[in-house]
Amino acid sequence: MSAPLPDTVPVIQTFGLSKVYSPGSEAEVVALKGVDMRVGRGDFVAIMGPSGSGKSTLMNLIGCLDTPSTGSYLCDGIDVSTLDAEELAILRREKIGFVFQGFNLLPRMSALENVAMPLGYAQVPVPERAARAQEALAAVGLAERAGHKPSELSGGQQQRVAIARALINKPPILLADEPTGALDSKTGEEILSLFKRLRDDDHTVILITHDPEVAAHADRILVMRDGELHEEPGSGRRDSGFGGATP
Ligand SMILES: Nc1ncnc2c1ncn2[C@@H]1O[C@H](COP(=O)(O)OP(=O)(O)OP(=O)(O)O)[C@@H](O)[C@H]1O
Ligand SMILES: [Mg+2]
Repeated sequence: MSAPLPDTVPVIQTFGLSKVYSPGSEAEVVALKGVDMRVGRGDFVAIMGPSGSGKSTLMNLIGCLDTPSTGSYLCDGIDVSTLDAEELAILRREKIGFVFQGFNLLPRMSALENVAMPLGYAQVPVPERAARAQEALAAVGLAERAGHKPSELSGGQQQRVAIARALINKPPILLADEPTGALDSKTGEEILSLFKRLRDDDHTVILITHDPEVAAHADRILVMRDGELHEEPGSGRRDSGFGGATP
């Protein structure tokens, strides 16, 4: 895929992004209303907001898992609406790592095999996969646990395996939907410091959370209310140079 763009180009930029589920039917839901969002490289952004306000809907669009009803989305400068299914799959693989609350690890596989999984799709030669997966596990502090199955790991360790898997292709964007929701506060802190290290490494991290203490770790806090995205006034420890959400 194309070479990385200069730092001045937002990694994520949306214009009037809207999503209507089951349009025109009785079950119609307007989940997202004209979201304008700009996120820069090396930004750590938290998205908060009540249940049903549209956070996961937005995350699915940013992750190219779903398409908007109206509006557009540039991922690392690429208008995703111009891509066909195969090009989208490649973009997802190269640009985006996902971490979900439920971990989604395969129970019969070891930590190492779970982490190496995406490399199969990326056509990395077999001998290289184990080495890369071992390196990714070491980066999340789990080098010694590579041979363990998920059931033999703690919740926080399983979440770190999921993060290592999300990062195995070194994607510039990490999307995490409630990654600390199922964890005790100490383990949650470990995950958050891992995200901060990724941010310092120039990854862009977008984190959905219900917990204000978790959100306080981010550089910016965006709040979703009834399908509209707002920048939390006073949030933003670091100035990304990008204006944020709707004014
Ligand atoms: N596939 C779908 N089909 C129809 N409606 C949907 C679908 N997915 C979500 N919705 C609706 O869209 C709205 C936004 O849902 P979304 O999952 O984005 O909320 P959320 O902010 O992530 O909530 P939570 O904090 O509970 O995870 C809700 O009213 C939800 O019922
Ligand atoms: Mg959700």
